Amino acid sequence: MTERNTSTDSPEKRAAGIAAAGLVSSGMVVGLGTGSTVAYTIKELGRRVKEEGLDILGVVTSYQSEMLAIDAGIRLTTLSQNPELDIAIDGADQIDSELRAIKGGGAAHTREKIVSMSARRFVVVADESKTSTQLVKPVPVEILPFAKELAINKIRNLGGEPKLRSAVKKDGPVITDNGNFILDVEFGTIKDPEALALQLSAIPGVVEHGIFCNVDELYIGKKDGSVKTV
Ligand code: 5RP
Repeated sequence: MTERNTSTDSPEKRAAGIAAAGLVSSGMVVGLGTGSTVAYTIKELGRRVKEEGLDILGVVTSYQSEMLAIDAGIRLTTLSQNPELDIAIDGADQIDSELRAIKGGGAAHTREKIVSMSARRFVVVADESKTSTQLVKPVPVEILPFAKELAINKIRNLGGEPKLRSAVKKDGPVITDNGNFILDVEFGTIKDPEALALQLSAIPGVVEHGIFCNVDELYIGKKDGSVKTV
């Protein structure tokens, strides 16, 4: 997975992350997303486990969230043992007014999608900068390395401009937790995210793309520490 700094303090992200942790109660199996916003959720859940005896099981979406959850003292399980989750909480790179999101800034969107689709309730936590009337950010697409040229050509045919994501601080591509490459694809304004999602999924060698059309609720943290829910 890409190296990501989850330690920089952000009052907006903290407010959203901690507020969403309040949705979790004892007995729940909880999908734990990846990134700096949901890191606050994971830490808050860990605090409640230690201080309030909160009794939950977590399913992680990346090595990053696994390490955070273990540090926080959250007991972990797998989708094989618990295929249905009560709730999944995760961040987003951009989210539109109809709660369609672009995810995958941390290259974890494949497991994030599997975990969120396994949950009865999928909640996104984000700061205000992530909200937008329409989706315009590049879409991360995880591909099998073997399919790189085919995927690039097919994505270009859809009107996208793909760029292979490079590793930070070293030569070569980012390798995901699943051993694959990431293409960041510029589509301009995405007028029909559901249709694009289907078209991307149909390309051989595409493992998963970062368009999420399954968000149930959004917690938006603001600079004054308040949280708006949508
Ligand atoms: C990782 C993700 C993250 O949830 C997304 O990039 C948001 O991260 P952050 O909360 O650090 O802004 O999709 O693949």
